[in-house]
Amino acid sequence: MDLETLVSLAKRRGFVFPSSDIYGGLSGFYDYGPYGVQMLNNLKSLWWNYFVRQRPNIYGVDSAIIQNPKLWKASGHIDGFIDPMVECKKCKGRFKEEQVDVKKPCPSCKAKDSFTKPKNFNLMMKTHIGAVEDDSSVAYLRPETAGGMFTNYELVRETTRAKIPFGIGQIGKAFRNEISPRDFIFRVREIEQMELQYFVNPKEANKEFDQLKEFTWRFFVNDVGLKKTSLKWHEHNKDERAHYAAAAFDIQFKFPIGFKELAGVHNRTDFDLKSHSEASGKTLEYFDPESNKKYIPHVMESSPGLGRLLLAALADAYTEEEVKGDKRVVLKLAPQVAPVDIAILPLSKNDKLTPLAQKVYKLLVEETPLLVEYDDSQSIGKRYRRQDEIGTPQCITIDFDSLEDDSVTIRDRDTMKQERVKIAELINHL
Ligand code: GAP
Repeated sequence: MDLETLVSLAKRRGFVFPSSDIYGGLSGFYDYGPYGVQMLNNLKSLWWNYFVRQRPNIYGVDSAIIQNPKLWKASGHIDGFIDPMVECKKCKGRFKEEQVDVKKPCPSCKAKDSFTKPKNFNLMMKTHIGAVEDDSSVAYLRPETAGGMFTNYELVRETTRAKIPFGIGQIGKAFRNEISPRDFIFRVREIEQMELQYFVNPKEANKEFDQLKEFTWRFFVNDVGLKKTSLKWHEHNKDERAHYAAAAFDIQFKFPIGFKELAGVHNRTDFDLKSHSEASGKTLEYFDPESNKKYIPHVMESSPGLGRLLLAALADAYTEEEVKGDKRVVLKLAPQVAPVDIAILPLSKNDKLTPLAQKVYKLLVEETPLLVEYDDSQSIGKRYRRQDEIGTPQCITIDFDSLEDDSVTIRDRDTMKQERVKIAELINHL
C-alpha cells in the first residue's frame, strides 16, 4: 500500500484532514477528524497508562507551550536546533541540504547548478508576547516537550518526595519550523509528543538506558499492537545525534515511505540539568541519602511522536482482501486503538426495528465504557464496508428476528463470522 492510499482513506473516513482545508490547507499542519481524534485519545491513554499510571515512580506534568526564552538558550536550541538549508536561485524552493543532491538539477524546477551554499536555518517557531513586537518580547513555541520537564524537575521531586531513579512524563504539542514538511503527517510543523524523562544515578546510566529502550519497544508491540516485523532499531552515529545526546537509538517503523523514525530513545547525560542549573543559578544537584553524596542526575529519554504513531497504526492495520470476488478494505486495528468499539446497525429504519436498536444502543452507551456508534443509513453491505474501513472490531445487527427472539447478530470484523446473542446476555458477552 502506498502513502496516497492511506491519505485518501484518512480523509474519506474522517481520520485526518488538511488543516484549514476550505482555504487550500497549510503546509505542515493537519486536523484530526472524528475518528482520528478518538484514535489519538486512545493512543494517549495507552501511553499514559503504561508510562505513568502503572509506574509508582513516574509522575505526570502539563507544562506551558511557551516558556521563558532563557530555557531554550540554556538547552542549546536557540543556537543549535538548526538544519542546513539550500535554496534554488531560480524557483526559490528551499530544501534541507540532506534531501537534495546539490550537483543534480533542482527537483522542483529542474534548473541546473542552481543551488545556493548551505545556510543554517533555526527550526524554532517564534512569537512575541504582549503589545510590543521587538527583541525584548520574543518568545518561542517549545520545539520539544522535554524542556518543561527539566524546569519542573526540582518542584516535582520536592512535592512527591521522589528518590532517584524517578521519571516525569508529559503529552503535549511541540512546534518546529520544518523547512520541507512532507509525507502527510509524518513530518509536520505542529507535532504532538509523548515524552518520558527518567532521572538516574550517573553510575546506572547505561543499564537504565538499555532498560528504557526495551520498555519503549514493549509499548509499541504489546500495548499498541504493532507487528514486531514492522519495527526495528536504528542506532544514531555521532553526526546524526541531537546536540544533547551521548547515545541515541530510534525505533523505526515500516511506513509506506520505508523504515523511518517512530520514536527516539536518548541518553541525554547530565546535559539538561547541568545547563539549566548553570543558567538559572538554582542548583539541581541531588543528595543521595544512601551514599551521602551529591550528583547531577543523568536523563534517559523516551520520545514517541503521536501523529507518527497514528500513521503507523493505520499503516500496520491496512488490509485488502478478496471476498466473494470483491475487494474488501479493512483496518485490522487492535481493539484498544480502534476509534469505535461497536457499531449498532438496524437492518432497516422503521418503527419496529428503530426503537429496539436504540434500546440496545442506549444499553451499551449507559452501562459500558465502550465507544458505540449508531448507523441506520444506506444498505447493510455499505455500512459493514464503512465500519471495516474505520476498523470497528464488532458490528451488531438488529433484524426482524430480533423482535421475536430478543437476540442480535454480532459480526466479527476480521473473520466476518456472525453469531446470535440474547440481548439480556449482550454486555457479559462483549
Ligand atoms: N525530546 C526529544 C525529541 O524531541 P526527536 O527525535 O527530535 O526527539 C521525538 O523527536 C519524536 O517526535 C520523533 O521520534 C517523532 O516521532 C516525533 N517528531 C519529531 N519531529 C517531527 C515532525 N516534524 N513531524 C512529526 N513528528 C515528529
